Amino acid sequence: MRRRRLLFSLLLAAAAGMGTAAVPPQPAADRDATPLGQVIPAPASVHSGGDPYTIGGRTVIRVPGGSGEARQVAGYLAGLLRPATGFALPVTAKDGRDGIVLRLGGRGAKGLGEEGYRLTSGGRGVTISAARPAGLFHGVQTLRQLLPASLETRSAQRASWQVAGGTIADSPRYGYRGAMLDVSRHFFTVEKVKRYIDQLAMYKINKLHLHLSDDQGWRIAMKSWPKLATYGGSTQVGGGPGGYYTKEDYREIIDYAADRYLTVVPEIDMPGHTNAALASYAELNCNGVAPPLYTGTQVGFSSLCVPKDRTYDFVDDVIRELAAMTPGPSIHIGGDEAHSTSHADYVAFMDKVQPVVAKYGKKVIGWHQLTGAHPAKGAVAQYWGYDATGAAEREQVAAAARNGTPLILSPADRAYLDMKYDKNTPLGLSWAGYVDTKRSYDWDPGSYLQGAPPESILGVEAPLWSETLSTSAHIEYMAFPRLPGIAELGWSPASTHDWETYKVRLAAQGPRWDAMGIGYYRAPEVPWPAK
Ligand code: ACM
Repeated sequence: MRRRRLLFSLLLAAAAGMGTAAVPPQPAADRDATPLGQVIPAPASVHSGGDPYTIGGRTVIRVPGGSGEARQVAGYLAGLLRPATGFALPVTAKDGRDGIVLRLGGRGAKGLGEEGYRLTSGGRGVTISAARPAGLFHGVQTLRQLLPASLETRSAQRASWQVAGGTIADSPRYGYRGAMLDVSRHFFTVEKVKRYIDQLAMYKINKLHLHLSDDQGWRIAMKSWPKLATYGGSTQVGGGPGGYYTKEDYREIIDYAADRYLTVVPEIDMPGHTNAALASYAELNCNGVAPPLYTGTQVGFSSLCVPKDRTYDFVDDVIRELAAMTPGPSIHIGGDEAHSTSHADYVAFMDKVQPVVAKYGKKVIGWHQLTGAHPAKGAVAQYWGYDATGAAEREQVAAAARNGTPLILSPADRAYLDMKYDKNTPLGLSWAGYVDTKRSYDWDPGSYLQGAPPESILGVEAPLWSETLSTSAHIEYMAFPRLPGIAELGWSPASTHDWETYKVRLAAQGPRWDAMGIGYYRAPEVPWPAK
């Protein structure tokens, strides 16, 4: 489209008898600098003013002192900026005030914490200061959004690469800002997971929860129980070929995520949601008979055999191998929808399994049903209830929070990205109702669960279940535009944002997603610019 417009203006220039090719007009939207606060998530504090900075052919990226990690962030920034600007943007360790400066430590970084940053823009340059490399990285994502949407195009563009003048001081409300991808119901390749990681990083999401096992597929290679992956991973919903990550694949995902300051949280869902494991090893079944592989979408029909000793050999081996290949601090053990496990068995199972996670040096995360057992000290519960969840269940979770079990909030009728937007949405499920973009955004994690102390909330997570989703285009249609809203709830102080101001900032992301090839849902309640 843009190329056609360029050709057209060149033809016009030629027709007008101009000797040299005229510079094509810039799209109006790209001419004025984006107002300093017009990014997602909303920054904690913004002071606009002073001259803008324009990135040009002589701009350098400075990493004074240049620690390895800061240099790596500079390299990432250069990789974002070079294709569309066409500028060389050399990275240098030489200090200076001009150009783009990524400054780690020093006075400017005081009070910014693990992930915060300060961005100062003026006539001579832009400086991003942070105490830690993660802060520099998040500051880079802010800088990216302050530049024209055509930055996201992977070929040279005409635009004024201007950053508005002023200062942003920013750090997150919550330390846990997650997204979950269900790679079990449909398998997603390493490349597809990387694509999603890149999208998550744009919005300062810092946890990637991978739902690695379920009834329909086991997706991670285990040396001690090889058939889990080779047989249990051999299909998926609808009967397709499925797949699994080798240990090298998993490492590749972890490293790619780490380079973007996301920590991987792997989930092995137990004791329910285990048909793929039960199908792979007859000895895991109470009756010693392996069920067939499952390619449907029912839930709640499978259970590990709680009274059997062999079950705990399996759990120990799996947790040991998973812990050894996971640098992050937590392992998610599922625990949801164990409808085929008696309550007594469920409690006994969790009493035996949580210490195994601790034995291998990790902390437990479980779906909030874990609060109906005995959450271990330090265990975290992930709340996925919704408006129809009964008062007793909510209170059970709130009471656990009061007793020291921190919470991650993923209310299904707000944060579940696989819920349909409305009745016409071609993908997704609707058991928690339709979740339009406003509903998904318009709640406060701090006061959401009555009776849960605000300080018990570690953060938010947007799960994406894949019963109906099998491609990156499917992921993106469901995640955009809702994902940035959950990211904002996790990052931005409540006082900085509301739906009326958010929807304007959200609309401004549309052209960026167009440039990136993200086929988002044009939610009718968002004032998108005309295409
Ligand atoms: C879940 O949606 N079963 C956690």
